[in-house]
Amino acid sequence: MPQISFNLSSKVDVSDAENIARYVQVPAMQNGPLYRTMFPLSDTITETQRDEIIRWYADMLEDAFQDRWESFLKARSIDGTPVGFCGWTVIERNREQVEANNGQANEPPKKEKRKKTWIPEVIDIDGWSALSRALRMERDRVLKNLDNICRLTFMAVNPKYQRQGIGSAMMQRICEEIDQHGRYAYVLAAPDGVRLYTKFGFEIVGRVETPQGIITSMLRQQRQS
Ligand SMILES: CC(C)(COP(=O)(O)OP(=O)(O)OC[C@H]1O[C@@H](n2cnc3c(N)ncnc32)[C@H](O)[C@@H]1OP(=O)(O)O)[C@@H](O)C(=O)NCCC(=O)NCCS
Repeated sequence: MPQISFNLSSKVDVSDAENIARYVQVPAMQNGPLYRTMFPLSDTITETQRDEIIRWYADMLEDAFQDRWESFLKARSIDGTPVGFCGWTVIERNREQVEANNGQANEPPKKEKRKKTWIPEVIDIDGWSALSRALRMERDRVLKNLDNICRLTFMAVNPKYQRQGIGSAMMQRICEEIDQHGRYAYVLAAPDGVRLYTKFGFEIVGRVETPQGIITSMLRQQRQS
């Protein structure tokens, strides 16, 4: 198998959003239960509809890039093309105190999250809403009595570059940071991700079944590095 050289960077800019959506997120997620619930006709959509989905994901990423509590890693090949991407958010029950301790209290807030004003024509809004609700309930069930949590929000490697260690390299970086801060970690894992997360110490604590596959609720206990 050809081995790819890649580098990891934690700097993401709104100008990266389109390429990450086009080359990483959308191609990687296509077989996952969430994407297939949102876009049940994805096998038959036109180029134009696919471009619209990519633009929608790019908008979502741009919004996420504005959030102070979100962190990201992008993996790029030597020519600069994004080949992997992951994101995570920190849940602190007492954010004001944490911000004051970090000297962030007087920082200007990052841009207000834009409310999505449009959705792709081909999205199944009812299916998507029902699954989002089920996922939120499962997440709340697991996290309700915990604090200091890192919740993984994105994890994807372009299918052409999978099984070459990019996902593991990103997870390694995230887990180092999680352990530096003694955090729990949580993810709602698509089937493709379960082995990877297990390798990094996540345990199965629940599941959400969908007609398109199972989404596995996984928690990693706090540990100190
Ligand atoms: C989950 C995902 C991010 C993993 O990324 P990846 O870059 O393929 O991950 P890795 O290469 O580090 O590891 C995957 C497997 O390849 C193996 N591998 C790693 N380096 C390898 C190499 N040089 N040669 C062969 N296999 C290798 C790993 O051992 C691992 O195998 P295992 O599952 O049997 O332990 C990727 O499959 C993906 O994007 N899937 C679609 C999106 C998705 O479902 N994301 C999870 C959302 S929660």
